[in-house]
Amino acid sequence: MAKNHKDISMAVIRRLPKYHRYLKELLDREVYRISSKELSLMMGFTASQIRQDLNNFGGFGQQGYGYNVEELYKEIQKILGLTTNYNTVIIGSGNLGQAIANYTNFQRFGFKLMALFDTNPKLIGMKIRDVPIFDIDELQEFIDENKIDIGIICTPKEFAQDIANKLTKAGVSAIWNFAPIDLKVPEDVIIENVHLSDSLFILSYLLSNQEE
Ligand code: NAI
Repeated sequence: MAKNHKDISMAVIRRLPKYHRYLKELLDREVYRISSKELSLMMGFTASQIRQDLNNFGGFGQQGYGYNVEELYKEIQKILGLTTNYNTVIIGSGNLGQAIANYTNFQRFGFKLMALFDTNPKLIGMKIRDVPIFDIDELQEFIDENKIDIGIICTPKEFAQDIANKLTKAGVSAIWNFAPIDLKVPEDVIIENVHLSDSLFILSYLLSNQEE
């Protein structure tokens, strides 16, 4: 039996993007069924971990058949909310903000970039892939006029809390924060922090502990 999505543990949820990625790759290769053993060889999770994880989503695995890749992919998409469209804005249009704006793949999954914001007069008025960069002072008005779901913070850390306050005051319900600071937001605002350095430091650990 499928569990109610709300009952699935965060540990399982955090593994779902990886399942989503591999299942998409299988579909692109026109592979429509796969055993937990084959999936385990591809993904580096144990077969029993995969069975446990995927049991949360109901009867997609059948003895002797394996998993129906398309059904599983669709269910994971649904759980991850990727069947919904979200409007986003980027605050801080420097190196990182522009890199994210230039990455078109997020749009394919329903994340539409509506505008970027900055304080730098040299950037204000420019466009990145047809998306305008506005003055930060126009943020509130822009959010009032356009339904914005997600604010993406790419400013230096000293400004990030003030930006988070502005976004939440304007009614944005989720923040994707790249600034290296713990932001305080009201309880009903969802925040997800990204630290590329966490992954880099794991790489460094593995490199420095590599067997001779
Ligand atoms: P950058 O200096 O190229 O860009 C920052 C931009 O923010 C500038 O255009 C600046 O004018 C703008 N800005 C400053 N105050 C602002 C305000 N109050 N409102 C709107 N815009 C404002 O810096 P970069 O390299 O793009 O880094 C941006 C942030 O992302 C930094 O906090 C950095 O530490 C962080 N970062 C995080 C990473 C991660 O993995 N989480 C990776 C790389 C950077």
